[in-house]
Amino acid sequence: MSDSGLKEYIPGKSISEVAKQYGFAAENIIKLGSNENVLGPSPKVKEILLKTLNNAGFNLGYYPDAMSESLIAGIYEQFPEIGSAAVVAGNGMDHILECLGRLLLEPNDKTLIHVPTFDYYEIITRWAKAEPVFFQTHLKDNFKLDLENFLAQITDKIKVVFLCCPNNPTGNILSWLEIEQILIKAEKVGAKVFLDEAYSEFAQKSYIDQVQNFSNLIVGKTFSKVYGLASLRIGWAVLPKQLLENYRKIQTPFNVNSLALLAAKTALEDQEYIQKSLELNLKGKNFLKTELEKLGFNVFESQTNFISFLAPSKDAKGFCLNLLTKGIIARNASLFRGSPDGLVRLTIGTETQNHKVIETIKNLSCK
Ligand SMILES: Cc1ncc(COP(=O)(O)O)c(C=O)c1O
Repeated sequence: MSDSGLKEYIPGKSISEVAKQYGFAAENIIKLGSNENVLGPSPKVKEILLKTLNNAGFNLGYYPDAMSESLIAGIYEQFPEIGSAAVVAGNGMDHILECLGRLLLEPNDKTLIHVPTFDYYEIITRWAKAEPVFFQTHLKDNFKLDLENFLAQITDKIKVVFLCCPNNPTGNILSWLEIEQILIKAEKVGAKVFLDEAYSEFAQKSYIDQVQNFSNLIVGKTFSKVYGLASLRIGWAVLPKQLLENYRKIQTPFNVNSLALLAAKTALEDQEYIQKSLELNLKGKNFLKTELEKLGFNVFESQTNFISFLAPSKDAKGFCLNLLTKGIIARNASLFRGSPDGLVRLTIGTETQNHKVIETIKNLSCK
């Protein structure tokens, strides 16, 4: 395979990387660069994993359930609105995106991607030797999609339209009215619409109920964000029933490990914990936004578990580096394709972490 045009995914920094580089004790590092649940998963997850590992009947030597059946049954039970649409699980939503790239894209096809957004849509497009068409959204419009012009870009060369709602790294959302018009136009040209709902729990708005009504809508979900299971790598998607048979043919066998399946099912059942996480997030987001605005930052509205703002002198790299030297990991979001200079993305932390972040920013020499 020639590597021309391929693009590497650049992840947020890890605690071990920063500990090694700056000599901090791992427990003193505040990791707010990757939008995980800062509380981790429900305590019931650890409990069931330990119990399972200690159970003599459990054997790590066996392959996991190839079709993730018990988790998928749990998902239908928790979200009956999915109705007659199909559900698949994967090794993170990233893995499902890879499978969809294999299933839906051929060389010289095109995909339509609003930017700035999550970089992986471009990456899988390039793997397939297809061509991404980027549609710029602008800071001056608070990154709102210009719907009329976006619709005009959905031509018969486009095979997949990627939508991220709420969007990473801007935090804004699309209305159902907008999504519906995109679906209708895409249907006319034979394109699928992938709606990424990695952060939908924070916006309290999901469109998994619409997949049964649109034969071209696929909704991606993850256990990495509010469910706190990023390290186990597990995601899921709702797809039209007609796609399931072919999806199974291109899916990697045994793509989700047995501990992740068990953890995800358990996490899903503890909705009380999810509510607690959402409340903490909302409180923390209001605090950070208010405090950063008091310090003169331009902070964008966010329907997620992160906020984005412009660094002083539009120097996102320098600002994030300054925070790193104090043990705080934030994301230089100006590196996302189509991002404005200076864009910084910060995950909402615990109350203590948020206070520490604000105190640190107040003391930075660049403020
Ligand atoms: C918008 C968006 N989609 C998908 C993912 C990846 O999800 P997963 O961890 O399930 O692969 C992320 C991770 O940051 C994300 O921000």
